[in-house]
Amino acid sequence: MRMGVLISGSGTNLQAIIDTINDGALDATIGIVISSRPDAYGLVRAQEAGIPTYALSKDAYANPLEADALIVEKLQEAECSHVVMAGYMRMVNKPILQAFPHAVINIHPALLPAFTGAHAIEDAYKSGVKVTGVTIHFANELYDKGPIIAQQAVEVSQNDSLEDLETKIHAVEHRLYPKVLQLVAENRVHVASNGVVMIDDK
Ligand code: GRF
Repeated sequence: MRMGVLISGSGTNLQAIIDTINDGALDATIGIVISSRPDAYGLVRAQEAGIPTYALSKDAYANPLEADALIVEKLQEAECSHVVMAGYMRMVNKPILQAFPHAVINIHPALLPAFTGAHAIEDAYKSGVKVTGVTIHFANELYDKGPIIAQQAVEVSQNDSLEDLETKIHAVEHRLYPKVLQLVAENRVHVASNGVVMIDDK
């Protein structure tokens, strides 16, 4: 599996993926890291790891389909087989989804279908739920609604601040995402005809 990783921000999930590859626990390579923002710190992490990068400006997204066509071009030039969204704060549209069918994966910091959107941790915290968590899913044309690959629950303790909850969620993300990507790399993750994800036993 050769991944193109899409980011917008600090890139701690990208770092967890890089570290897991370097530890030998994720049998994959990263062909390119593409950012929706030129100032994303994740670009520095990629460069430090010797991974090629590409950044789009805000203007490039004036036409989201053109932006996605450009991203596809970069992913194909880098010979990527899969697209891994890691804190990518833009939608992926038809050009990317059609070029990489069932091969665009996203991480969301809540237990979907609850708390979709860009402020999921805060929304869950403010709602008073006692359990939230992390979801990893295939992206499709419905925002935050693609086939779910894996979920892990995180308890909200009554003494947790929002920052405490964020720390707990991110720690789970950094363990779960590389593990799930390894299952994908082993070709064990399939979307059945009813749209539900099945994971092959070893
Ligand atoms: C993660 O919580 C991810 O689930 C969300 O954005 C955050 C990205 O963090 N979509 P990072 O850029 O990987 O540090």
